[in-house]
Amino acid sequence: LGKDIQHFMELESTNDYAKTIAGDAKEGTVVVAEVQKKGRGRRGFDWVSPQGGIWMSIVLKPSIAPADASRLTLVGGLAVIDSLKAIGLNPSLKWPNDVLVNGKKICGILTEMEAEIDRVEYIVLGLGINLNFNTDMLPKEIRDGSTTISDELGTYVGRLEFVHSLLYNLEQYYIHFKTQPFEELMERWIDSSDTIGRNVRIVTPSKMMKGRAIGITPSGGLLLQKNDGSTEEIMSGRCIYI
Ligand code: BTN
Repeated sequence: LGKDIQHFMELESTNDYAKTIAGDAKEGTVVVAEVQKKGRGRRGFDWVSPQGGIWMSIVLKPSIAPADASRLTLVGGLAVIDSLKAIGLNPSLKWPNDVLVNGKKICGILTEMEAEIDRVEYIVLGLGINLNFNTDMLPKEIRDGSTTISDELGTYVGRLEFVHSLLYNLEQYYIHFKTQPFEELMERWIDSSDTIGRNVRIVTPSKMMKGRAIGITPSGGLLLQKNDGSTEEIMSGRCIYI
């Protein structure tokens, strides 16, 4: 990954740009911007992307079924976790796409795909990492629930070194993903997650459910044990700890 890197001072969104080039781009092409003007989060939310953060999208072309694309969000989270541990932080994964430090969000992942019925054409794995800036840069509504690497460490971290570490870890996990059974990565994800075992509320556009998060499914979904004892696989939605 990262043999082709396209760097921009400013883009609306690295995911949007990556999608425009993904069809012709080599697998592993990386798009990175210093600042995003219209960074996108999940569920249509804005993703505030000031100078100092890492706003990056990676074009992947795995031979997988569209139903398994969510697995790559988990793969991305594992790579981020390892890079954060390497600089002395103690991160955890929150299903589906958050990386937390001290209970606050430090990274978000937005996986988008182009697919035919039974075949993925490409996946754009978007990583937003709050690296070297102060949470004062973020809008009030998300400030309390967010943190940055420099706030946590009390010092700036080299951007290039961090991107390098991230791409290295991502490549290792991606190779594992393509060549080994997914169960091992699921186990790793569960080991680094603070979601499993918790009582949660899941909110999707169509319904709200309460229960206990008891596992991750082979498609990258969350296994929820509901209060009536039945279980349900949740493929997407907002997960709130209760
Ligand atoms: C979320 O937690 O809601 C996901 C946030 C993903 C943000 C990243 S920053 C790079 C890439 N480009 C975007 O517009 N979004 C993703």
